[in-house]
Amino acid sequence: MCGIVGYIGKEQAAPILLDGLKKLEYRGYDSAGIALLNAGDIDIVKAKGRLKVLYEMTDGGKAVKGTCGIGHTRWATHGEPSENNAHPHCNDEKTIAAVHNGIIENYAELKEKLIKRGYKFYSQTDTEVATKLVDYYYKKYGDPLRAISEFALRVRGSYALAVIYKDFPETVFAIRKDSPMIIGVAGGAAYLASDVPAILKYTKSVYYVDNLQIARLERGGVTFFNLDREEVEKEIVKITWDAEAAEKGGFEHFMLKEIHEQPKVVKDTVNYIYQNGNLGFSEVGLSDKDFKKINGLIIVGCGSAYHVGLVMQYVTEDLARVPVRVELASEFRYRNPVVNGELVIAISQSGETADTLAAVRAAKEAGLKTLAIVNVVGSSIAREADYVFYTKAGPEISVATTKAYSAQLVAGYTFALKLAKIRKTIEDNEYSKLLKELSALPEKLELLLSQKEQIQKFAAKTMDKKDVFFIGRGVDYAVSVEGSLKLKEISYIHSEAYAAGELKHGTISLIENGTLVFGVLTQKKLAEKTLSNLVETASRGALIAAVASEGITLPEKGLDFVLRIPETDERFAASLAVIPLQFFAYYLSVLRGNDVDKPRNLAKSVTVE
Ligand code: AGP
Ligand code: GLU
Repeated sequence: MCGIVGYIGKEQAAPILLDGLKKLEYRGYDSAGIALLNAGDIDIVKAKGRLKVLYEMTDGGKAVKGTCGIGHTRWATHGEPSENNAHPHCNDEKTIAAVHNGIIENYAELKEKLIKRGYKFYSQTDTEVATKLVDYYYKKYGDPLRAISEFALRVRGSYALAVIYKDFPETVFAIRKDSPMIIGVAGGAAYLASDVPAILKYTKSVYYVDNLQIARLERGGVTFFNLDREEVEKEIVKITWDAEAAEKGGFEHFMLKEIHEQPKVVKDTVNYIYQNGNLGFSEVGLSDKDFKKINGLIIVGCGSAYHVGLVMQYVTEDLARVPVRVELASEFRYRNPVVNGELVIAISQSGETADTLAAVRAAKEAGLKTLAIVNVVGSSIAREADYVFYTKAGPEISVATTKAYSAQLVAGYTFALKLAKIRKTIEDNEYSKLLKELSALPEKLELLLSQKEQIQKFAAKTMDKKDVFFIGRGVDYAVSVEGSLKLKEISYIHSEAYAAGELKHGTISLIENGTLVFGVLTQKKLAEKTLSNLVETASRGALIAAVASEGITLPEKGLDFVLRIPETDERFAASLAVIPLQFFAYYLSVLRGNDVDKPRNLAKSVTVE
């Protein structure tokens, strides 16, 4: 994970680097550091803890001179969060410094070799090994580009690496493989970052660095090279959203803001595909002929993206009658799956999740076509997949996903509907009805947002709970899994989601006086059964709550909390049922005094295994 930044220009670099890091803090936040080229030397300042500590130490960067530098906000993989392990790392002479996002898999072996050559190590990180490897090759060949390309030839793993050399006081060098990196240019300055929001304030003209491309950033602009150090041409991409999209906009937390953006992102994502009364997938790259060829789907993703896959499985099998398999990307990539010409759908907000990217590659190796449902434009998964459906969620900053999940869900519905239409598994009037339902979702979402206070009050009553269960059947089970993850992630309360019928096969023994059990009830045929399971837990002392569609009949007594959600087609109900669950997790996190947007131990995009 981690966020890296770099700057070379006419302004003082440190405040710009810190400003960029602030926007990347969602990627990692256990320690931070900057390195500046200043009057012929490299100055490094690092601090354990949030970026705020570094900010205060350096007076917002003002205390550190120089117009060229690099910075890092860390999510530790190798070595505990500490000042020592924080980046930038440097050689003993302090003539080279580097920041790194990713993992150098063969670092132990390289470290041993470097020790034999007289190198000393002061941290536990793989990054220090990377830095000293670059140093070794720089000393050997005296060429900064060659040092980096030799580094790339020797290391295995993933990296976005930015390096400064004392001998090149006005240059930042960088390379990436499987970890994101973008470079922006404006008015005689060049900016480097792990993600667009970090530099959006300064420029909207951005290069997406490809795997194994080396970049040389100077005042006059950026030059790109391949590993043979031959210059390569790259195209500038114009970013279409502005800096405000990545600001809190008056909300207390990004998560709250992003929950409120859901009606809009759902609308925008549906409208991307739904034009003139029909679903057009030409921008995705899928023709009707391609749809006709689909004989089955394998959906891969991690965390919430995987949960979208679970919903998609119910919806697509029901509508389009094709077999759908959903797999955790981290499992799929190492299995030896039996495949049969399926289309593989990889779902990812960031488009950089290491396991999902590896699953896409595994699918391609198995000869399968891949469709990415991705939010971040130009991300690795988007670039490697055969077809790309860009969800229109805009930048999502809070580590706990909300709006990207919702955008992915509706992307999934449009796909399922199109497939059903092409396969003629639904009647035309049903198809039109469902399209109308899709278009009506934003309005219903607005209505749900206005009920947040009810959930806030209930959260206040339950803030001391130690265990919370979410149960449901079908789509309601799929959405329960997401509600449970949301709660764990930001409130740190233990929670589990169970297929309602499965609870009695063991887990019900965990129910005791006061355990909170949520039933999700949107599927008419199944609701009664889930209700019975819910009541079974109440008989064993549980406090029971229901998130239920308006049309579902509930007992007059016995439920400790009920939140009604508007009616929609049952297949789309996850889009509505998830909202109260998001609010519940959010308010519990706030009430318990947690850092909602940056929960402990986590980071927004998991670019390491
Ligand atoms: C969701 O709230 C989590 N932060 C996490 O499970 C996330 O969905 C997962 O890491 C996948 O990320 P991606 O969508 O960027 O691939
Ligand atoms: N492996 C490096 C470290 O532990 C970088 C971690 C990352 O990018 O997540 O410091």
